[in-house]
Amino acid sequence: MLIKRPKSWEIPENMASSEATFINRRNLIKAAGFGGIGVAAGLALPGGRMEAAEPDPTAELYPSGMNPAYADVGRPITDEETNSQYNNFYEFGSHKRIFKEAQKLQTRPWTVTFDGLVEEEMTVDFDTLVRAMPLEDRVYRHRCVEAWSMVVPWSGFALKELVAYAKPLSSAKYIRFETFNDAKTASGQRQIWYPWPYVEGLTMAEANNDLSFIATGAYGKPIAKQFGAPLRLHTPWKFGFKSIKSIVRVSFTDEQPVSFWEEILPAEYGFYANVNPEVPHKRWSQATEEVLGTGERVPTQLFNGYAEQVAHLYKDVPEDQLFY
Ligand code: MTE
Repeated sequence: MLIKRPKSWEIPENMASSEATFINRRNLIKAAGFGGIGVAAGLALPGGRMEAAEPDPTAELYPSGMNPAYADVGRPITDEETNSQYNNFYEFGSHKRIFKEAQKLQTRPWTVTFDGLVEEEMTVDFDTLVRAMPLEDRVYRHRCVEAWSMVVPWSGFALKELVAYAKPLSSAKYIRFETFNDAKTASGQRQIWYPWPYVEGLTMAEANNDLSFIATGAYGKPIAKQFGAPLRLHTPWKFGFKSIKSIVRVSFTDEQPVSFWEEILPAEYGFYANVNPEVPHKRWSQATEEVLGTGERVPTQLFNGYAEQVAHLYKDVPEDQLFY
């Protein structure tokens, strides 16, 4: 975010796979009997491919069944290899090629703590939590504040299901998420000028909107470490930095949380961070975006194309707070 975006990810258009290709590949994997072997705990091979190091205990949950309301975003799904090798995950380095370094993340055991304004604080093992949730597949557009985008086939569950599970009090106005903090494993967290751990937040209305999604799988299998295993948020109408990875803590509060990037540069990265092509970032235009893996630059859409689902959430918020 603070550094200039390299162009190294640009690949020819014919390498981007369509949804049909992706679905066919999933069927092939299943037919070959590999459906039960997870790669979330995998090793990175040359070229970014992953090899299973240990079986993922939740592998049989994926793919989870497409939610038809979110099956088509009018663009091809970004090729898995492209997506897997171009990531923002500052815990593992402040550049895009963190996928090998991110394999150091230990995702078992993994617990999530629910606290703050809740009926009862609790800490739950991830494998128990994910099995308590109604899993589904959704295809989402993802728009980074750096003006690149991709299309990701997630599996997971609506955030509102997690909210219901946590039983917040009616006095809760915001939900606050926190990523792990482990400088021994995550070399980026040794960069002490960053305000670790990574924090993000939403209003309760945003959290309960059907679009807010917790991804636990991607491309028909458990989510890869560089995508934020074992669970990460995706709010597709907002800039990508809101979509916090590798969550360990979910708190309910009546105070607006201050997020990681907001704490570093409050004039450039605000709380709402909704996508709007007409509101430039302080240092660059947001009018268009480079679609990862296609070499194409396309116009950016208001709320990243999800205005119908979310615009009503902001009737009472001053417009100058909404789009950065
Ligand atoms: N979450 C954590 N914990 N750390 C990060 O550095 N980067 C954010 C978001 N979530 C980030 C994070 C940014 S800037 C983006 S664009 C997306 O993750 C990138 O997600 P991807 O790597 O799966 O494309």
